[in-house]
Amino acid sequence: MPLDEASAKRYARKSAFLEFCAKDGLSVITGYGVEDLKTAALKHWERWGGPAAYCHLEGSQGFVGVIVAEIPAGKSLKPMRHMYEEQVLILAGRGATQFWSDSSKEPMTLEWQPGSLFSPPLNVKHQHHNGSATEPVRFATANNLPLIMNVYNSPDFVFNVPYEFTDRFAGQKDFFSSELKPGEEEDRVVNFIPDLTAVQLDYHPERGIGYSRLGIHLSGNSMVGHIMAIESGTYKKAHRHGPGAQVIVIAGKGYSLMWPPGGKFVRVNWKPGSLLVPPEGWYHHHFTTSKESARHLALRRGLRQVGHPWRPNLSEHEGGHLLEHEDEPPEIRAMYEAELKKEGVPFRMNPIERT
Ligand SMILES: [Fe+2]
Repeated sequence: MPLDEASAKRYARKSAFLEFCAKDGLSVITGYGVEDLKTAALKHWERWGGPAAYCHLEGSQGFVGVIVAEIPAGKSLKPMRHMYEEQVLILAGRGATQFWSDSSKEPMTLEWQPGSLFSPPLNVKHQHHNGSATEPVRFATANNLPLIMNVYNSPDFVFNVPYEFTDRFAGQKDFFSSELKPGEEEDRVVNFIPDLTAVQLDYHPERGIGYSRLGIHLSGNSMVGHIMAIESGTYKKAHRHGPGAQVIVIAGKGYSLMWPPGGKFVRVNWKPGSLLVPPEGWYHHHFTTSKESARHLALRRGLRQVGHPWRPNLSEHEGGHLLEHEDEPPEIRAMYEAELKKEGVPFRMNPIERT
């Protein structure tokens, strides 16, 4: 067999994670973005006992993705525990999740609503319940199941191992507090956010003139995240980073451009419920075209000092991976101004001074 044919065959092999999805009957969504997680097509997944799909987009790269799932009206999903981390975002409906461990049999109940975010602590038993007899619940969990399944390749281990991580969760009654406590660098430690739209963010004009953010760290996870807002008539400076950042749109409308250095733009339009995942090392810009600010939730792989040392908050002029406006492809701004004109939204940025 010629060498390139052999290597093509080698690189086309399915990952252990995607083999698991096929065998387990978990439907997979691919591409660069999902237009609306609230309406994405789902298929019954017996393991959870409800409709679900796995969003394993181009930028997931075998690390992190999103399970989008439903709890039918008046129903509960099966009790579950798992050796992967997940952050659960409620997209529609109301209900509650119960948590319990082998040592503390008495369950702890957390009630939630659209916009709530929480993270079942690693391998803690839990069950999601719909609180309505008439409306389904739709939720999305950003998780590192691909990474964990690609390493262990054993569904029985991932979903059925009795180990308790008591250093993360030991049945504390106040565990799901919504208090934002100081964490590493500018991050906040918090285990329950009742409503993502109500969280106060910090202004960071150095990353974009209308840009605010707050780093969040839930349930002692290796995964991390942030909430960000981009004001109307502005866009964030482009940057590059590692794989697997799951960006879910909470409010506002717009689009993102993503491109590999020297390559073509991939455009993803977004609105509340959209998901996009920039591939590793690709530049990406987020452009707000609505009259209101856009708000995004980004949940990321984490893993300090693993892989390429990307520095998305440091200017390329200082050796980092944040693209200054004067260095961005000139057609980007012209395209944005034309998009705003179509929407009747004023442009609110300073002109670019190119040297
Ligand atoms: Fe990013």
